[in-house]
Amino acid sequence: MKKIYLIGFMGSGKSAIGRRLSFLLKIPYYDMDQEIVKKIGMSIPEIFAKYGEAFFRQQEHEFLKTLRDEWCIVSTGGGVAVNPSNTKVMRQTGLVLFLDATFADIWKRIHRDVNRPIVQASTREDLEALYTTRKRFYKAATHITIRTQGRSLRQITEYAAFQVNRLKSNNK
Ligand code: S3P
Repeated sequence: MKKIYLIGFMGSGKSAIGRRLSFLLKIPYYDMDQEIVKKIGMSIPEIFAKYGEAFFRQQEHEFLKTLRDEWCIVSTGGGVAVNPSNTKVMRQTGLVLFLDATFADIWKRIHRDVNRPIVQASTREDLEALYTTRKRFYKAATHITIRTQGRSLRQITEYAAFQVNRLKSNNK
């Protein structure tokens, strides 16, 4: 068990927690979306517009399969854990943490975000339906669920670090 994957819906705090957790545990951090943006040389909306969502999904899978074997934190995109072959790779190579945020909190954070093509193309109702559908996948993929409502970034990070350290020492 080497990698620590953060999964959850858009706006659940995966990148914010990932960065903090990496700092706290002193291990490298990868933001999957940013790695894909770097590799393709385009923003996420540009990738979706030019090559389509299926291409982006392939890039996500490719990233997971080729990430080097080291202790690190990976914040995934909101669609990653929906694909069973991604979930399989994540569970085989690390510990999966699901950031479980309420839809109301998520909506507040993402509804104006022009950098998220799925938000741009959806109504609030569409997104809530997607949230409900995906939640089942996140729950099935995760080792640990972390509820974020009413907790600060610092509290969530410390709880995540506690869980990681606990599982790490069990694994020795
Ligand atoms: C997506 C979530 C985004 C990004 C892309 C698609 C999704 O990542 O990968 O816009 O399908 O939920 P975040 O969860 O980091 O916003």
